[in-house]
Amino acid sequence: MQVLEKKTTLIRLVLFSLLVVVAVTGITFKKQVAYGTDSSKGELGKQVYQKYCVICHGAKGDGKGLIGIIHRVEKSGLVWATFPRDFTVGVFKFRSTPTGYLPTDDDLMKVIESGILRSGMPSHIDVSLEERKAVLEYIKSFSMRWEEEDQGDSLQAKAPSWLGNPDSVAKGKQVYNQMKCWECHGQEGKGNGPKANDLKDDWGDKILPFDFTSGTLKRGSAPENIYLTYTTGLDGTGMPSFADSLSEEDRWHLASYTLKLMGRLK
Ligand code: HEC
Ligand code: HEC
Repeated sequence: MQVLEKKTTLIRLVLFSLLVVVAVTGITFKKQVAYGTDSSKGELGKQVYQKYCVICHGAKGDGKGLIGIIHRVEKSGLVWATFPRDFTVGVFKFRSTPTGYLPTDDDLMKVIESGILRSGMPSHIDVSLEERKAVLEYIKSFSMRWEEEDQGDSLQAKAPSWLGNPDSVAKGKQVYNQMKCWECHGQEGKGNGPKANDLKDDWGDKILPFDFTSGTLKRGSAPENIYLTYTTGLDGTGMPSFADSLSEEDRWHLASYTLKLMGRLK
């Protein structure tokens, strides 16, 4: 239902923009190649990958490119490193799909276009759309998951009007304590909870629970992004989905409290 609504709105928007552009410039457009069609696969995708991605993600897509460690963080006397993602496992963090599912093409495109804040994954918005689509298809070739499994349904979120109000923040704090978020993220959200030193991700690398007090989140800091993270989880990181254990309302309260810890509420 939600997906359908989004598609209809999107189609309307695209048609409208086309009308405006055609009206203004008289240009005609080639039909867009849908994601995943054969013409967007293959050689072009490989070329784009070699040009922009191979240096970090490696020729085999295993994250072992020339640049090894992307990012180092020192905290409480310990050092954590961020590595380029290994695509051979087919596990992705920033999805609009339920935990355990592959991301949608739109999810992947968002990462390719915007990059991932604070991780060293750069934005590729300056690469042409055709090339972005081609490389998006190409990275799927590194894992069999893309042939064997369906992409999950995309969840659309819209923040309620009460998000961030004092009552919601207080409820969010209760949930934060009750769900033991502090075990990893610490009581004040500084990423220094008692479990913080022992976490490893699915790739076997040490991983740091996010320090909310230090600025933007990787997925972006809009309430909807935070809510999505609580609903879908960040697969591969130990940061679970709370879709089954928390009501939708509580997940929004938690987003309110997160914004408070981030210093984004007055
Ligand atoms: C400078 C190094 C670098 C380059 C160049 C780079 N990436 Fe990344 N990429 C990363 C890092 C680091 C991560 C892991 C970030 C994390 O897990 O927080 C990542 C993660 C990703 C992810 C996983 C997103 C998710 O939801 O889990 C995708 C997809 C991706 N990159 C695609 C690409 C593509 C396509 C290109 C080339 C057009 C590219 N990257 C170029 C460093 C890079
Ligand atoms: C088992 C440890 C663990 C628990 C429990 C946990 N998290 Fe996380 N969380 C992580 C890790 C690790 C990351 C960092 C992932 C990364 O950087 O790729 C993270 C990332 C996050 C992010 C940042 C997302 C982004 O876009 O950068 C938020 C927000 C968050 N957690 C909130 C919470 C809340 C709220 C709870 C409790 C309901 C919670 N976490 C429970 C380990 C945990």
